[in-house]
Amino acid sequence: MAVPSAFIDELVARSDIVDVVSDYVSLTPKGGSFWGLCPFHGEKTASFHVLQDRQLYHCFGCGKGGGVLSFVMEVENLPFLDAARLLAKRAGMEFPEQDSNQADRRKRERLLAANKAAARYFHAQLHSPAGQEGLEYLRRRGLSKGTLTRFGLGFAPDSWDGLIHALGEQGFDKGVLLDTGLVVSNKKGGIYDRFRGRVMFPIIDLRGDVIGFGGRVMGEGTPKYLNSPDTSVFNKSRNLFALNLAKTTKLGRIVLTEGYMDTIALHQAGFDCAVASLGTALTADHAKLLSRFTKEVVICYDADEAGIQAANRAIPLLEKTGMKVRVLEVRGAKDPDEFIRTYGREAFARLLEQSENFVEYRLGQLQSKYDLGDPVKKTEFARAAAEMLSTLDSPVEREVYAGQVAETTGVGKDALLQEIKQARELHLRQAKKKQLRRDMTPMAQAQPRERQLRYENLRSARAEEGVLRLLMLDPSLEAESGGLEPEQFSSQHLGKIFRVLRERLRQGRPLQLGMLEGELEGEEVRLLAEILRQPEALEKGRQAMNDYCAVITAEYTKRNETDEAALLAARDRFQKKKSIGDGTP
Ligand code: UTP
Ligand code: MN
Repeated sequence: MAVPSAFIDELVARSDIVDVVSDYVSLTPKGGSFWGLCPFHGEKTASFHVLQDRQLYHCFGCGKGGGVLSFVMEVENLPFLDAARLLAKRAGMEFPEQDSNQADRRKRERLLAANKAAARYFHAQLHSPAGQEGLEYLRRRGLSKGTLTRFGLGFAPDSWDGLIHALGEQGFDKGVLLDTGLVVSNKKGGIYDRFRGRVMFPIIDLRGDVIGFGGRVMGEGTPKYLNSPDTSVFNKSRNLFALNLAKTTKLGRIVLTEGYMDTIALHQAGFDCAVASLGTALTADHAKLLSRFTKEVVICYDADEAGIQAANRAIPLLEKTGMKVRVLEVRGAKDPDEFIRTYGREAFARLLEQSENFVEYRLGQLQSKYDLGDPVKKTEFARAAAEMLSTLDSPVEREVYAGQVAETTGVGKDALLQEIKQARELHLRQAKKKQLRRDMTPMAQAQPRERQLRYENLRSARAEEGVLRLLMLDPSLEAESGGLEPEQFSSQHLGKIFRVLRERLRQGRPLQLGMLEGELEGEEVRLLAEILRQPEALEKGRQAMNDYCAVITAEYTKRNETDEAALLAARDRFQKKKSIGDGTP
């Protein structure tokens, strides 16, 4: 790991989990823990809780859990080191950056500081007499005061050096101004403001840093939008406008638009899941980025030919990452912004819901695979359509679309509905069977949620979990574990966690869930939180530790003996075959 683990230990020790979680969730103490609405899935009654003594969080609803660092990773959608940086800032600790990176990092920070100062300057201008025109323009386009603030919109006055002066006074030199791309040099070595007489849209990345700007002329003029050039902190094919806001949406999908104004209009109407690309075509990097935050993307591009073509190019890129992709058409308007302004948010909500099951679209896709001029193919299509319609839960929808298919194929509607009914019954029977099989499995409940963590030997795994829990709660109990080795664990993951705990104990370092998060995989952290959440009678800790170790060792021996027996039997068989093959008596 690039950062000393001692630093992480101290960081976690200084960041109380209740404190940190309270920045995001309103918590109420109840029965020894703190309860609140889960920030990771939409819910109306609290199933998310934080245990202060064990420094962990857990949600009964979605199963997420871990320590303070994984909480920040999860809620801010950051990789480990970035989460640690954020937490360090919060705790007032200086993050130990590596030397080789330090110069680069300082430069980057200076550039970001200049961008931030510029955003402040533009925003202040918007609310000054010089910016009156800009303010009127944005208000005329229907943006509320709250929206202007939320997006930090601004105004670049029609001047060659307004920004240069403002930032110069704050101590930013020519070099850093040029680095931001906000300032351009002319042939004589002089510099001037790139953005003049434009309303300004700051582009903010996932960490909350201002990385670039888009600026629009008010009214006619070219170019309509001017954007910051790519810089060391701004790459148009890797960033999306408003993803910093949309990343925490509870709407369960992300709506992808083409324009700044489209995205802003959607947010203002309550669709806080909208993002926009930055005046370039969607890239594979964009798709990958989106897939970190959602399983479903709704493409909502302009209604013109260019929009349709752009959507067609975007679909395969998005689907490649495994996301579900839908297309939403804003009929009767040129783009989503105009649609919302003309027909209102309810109408957009309806469109979004319709794109939900998109039956017509899917039927159309299916139909295009069959040549309906051929009677045989026509029947095949009717059958396939019935199968597809059988997955619809609404009887009304099944009825309506069956009628539609009946018309296009000439197959009787009743016959179709009969076919749909049979298919549904079959699905139901299969689902029931599956559930029954699940219920019959003993102790199905005792398995971890993640598939790859499944236990093969439940008896041993229970005991292994017990050992880990005891060690975390009372490290002095390690003395009771009687030479237990990670290899004796039946679960590879529990064994790995044990190894990590033991290593730390040997180094005399404390054991706290949050401190282990750099050394364990995400699903292992989650598993450990789940284990740690279970009750344990610590008064009888020594006895319990002895019992757990006894079970693990016994199961391990048993496993080895069976392995040995199997080996012997195999050798036996081999010998016999050989003696037959040899012809030796
Ligand atoms: P549009 O021309 O569709 O603009 O460009 P818009 O978003 O609907 O804006 P309004 O409603 O006319 O104000 C879509 C996007 O393409 C990029 C911008 O990112 C814009 O939001 N673009 C467009 C440019 O970068 N430069 C341009 O000159 C035009
Ligand atoms: Mn528009």
